[in-house]
Amino acid sequence: MSRLGPLVVGLAGALTLAGCGPDPSASSSTSAGSAPDLAVGSAYMPQPVSDTVAAGFLTVTNEGGSADELTSVSSDAAGRVTVHETVDGAMREADRLKIPARGRLVLGSGGNHLMFEKLTHRPKQGETVPVELRFAHSDPVTVEMPVKPATYRPTSGH
Ligand code: CU
Repeated sequence: MSRLGPLVVGLAGALTLAGCGPDPSASSSTSAGSAPDLAVGSAYMPQPVSDTVAAGFLTVTNEGGSADELTSVSSDAAGRVTVHETVDGAMREADRLKIPARGRLVLGSGGNHLMFEKLTHRPKQGETVPVELRFAHSDPVTVEMPVKPATYRPTSGH
């Protein structure tokens, strides 16, 4: 009877760890930090000047102890959404963008951005555009991206 107590406590501890620890398949190190903990903010779309394409910006913050990656994006308002990175002033499609542990991925004017193609209609200032973000490790996140004036710049930018 005196041996049962520690055994039960040990089992309970193991179960707690299995339930709350990082996904073993998502990390090569069992002692790495906690799972990614993502939040999406500062989302906006400058009102597009085109009937067919638009850009979108947002920030993904990761408070978790391991990195994640933005792998794909979709929207009911567009036939296709891709992630673009800007290198030496020219933009190109990115396969995926890293979100560092305890860091953030910034999609901002003049840099990385979302590219909406085959718009179902031209979004106007005051509307919101639904966007679903998918990640390598975390669950998908849906945000309502507000449409801002074409010349809008966030106060924290540049
Ligand atoms: Cu682009």
